[in-house]
Amino acid sequence: MAHVSGDPLSKLNRLIVWLCMARRPRFFAKAVQLVFHIELPPLLHPVRMAHPYCIVVNPAVQLGKNVTLFQGVTIGGKRTGRRAGVPTIGDDVVIYANAVVVGAITIGAGAQVGPGAVVYEDVPPGCTVVGNPARPLVSKGD
Ligand SMILES: CC(C)(COP(=O)(O)OP(=O)(O)OC[C@H]1O[C@@H](n2cnc3c(N)ncnc32)[C@H](O)[C@@H]1OP(=O)(O)O)[C@@H](O)C(=O)NCCC(=O)NCCS
Repeated sequence: MAHVSGDPLSKLNRLIVWLCMARRPRFFAKAVQLVFHIELPPLLHPVRMAHPYCIVVNPAVQLGKNVTLFQGVTIGGKRTGRRAGVPTIGDDVVIYANAVVVGAITIGAGAQVGPGAVVYEDVPPGCTVVGNPARPLVSKGD
């Protein structure tokens, strides 16, 4: 949930957390769409949005606990071909700015998706992926 200190949206965000906690996920998703122009699935857990702009998450996507989405993130469906469907996002995943995650793939718990990455394949738990197509990050020091 966007609750960055000093964020002018924080009061509204607290209301959104309350709506989420009140188990009104569909109402919550609609309210967020109307107010912030962010499309979300009905949420079972609060999601932290660090800069909550231009974020689109397909309504069928399952988001785990403690997920963080930065600005410009798209988590979308793929209608055709291999891995047609929508992603499943595990607990504690961080998806950085302008990343695109598509298809019936799983982003494992604790994984990170680097800024601008385009992800079409499963990401193992704890793994950091970058680039297009996204690949595990390999440091020159490794
Ligand atoms: C992808 C990321 C999460 C990885 O973080 P990390 O695990 O701490 O790894 P590092 O940043 O130390 O990078 C490790 C290596 O991968 C390289 N690397 C990092 N991101 C890369 C990318 N997108 N493409 C290619 N190489 C990359 C680094 O240059 C470094 O290489 P080196 O060891 O040879 O010098 C981080 O680099 C990142 O991009 N964070 C997002 C920051 C951001 O978007 N901030 C704005 C928020 S609004």
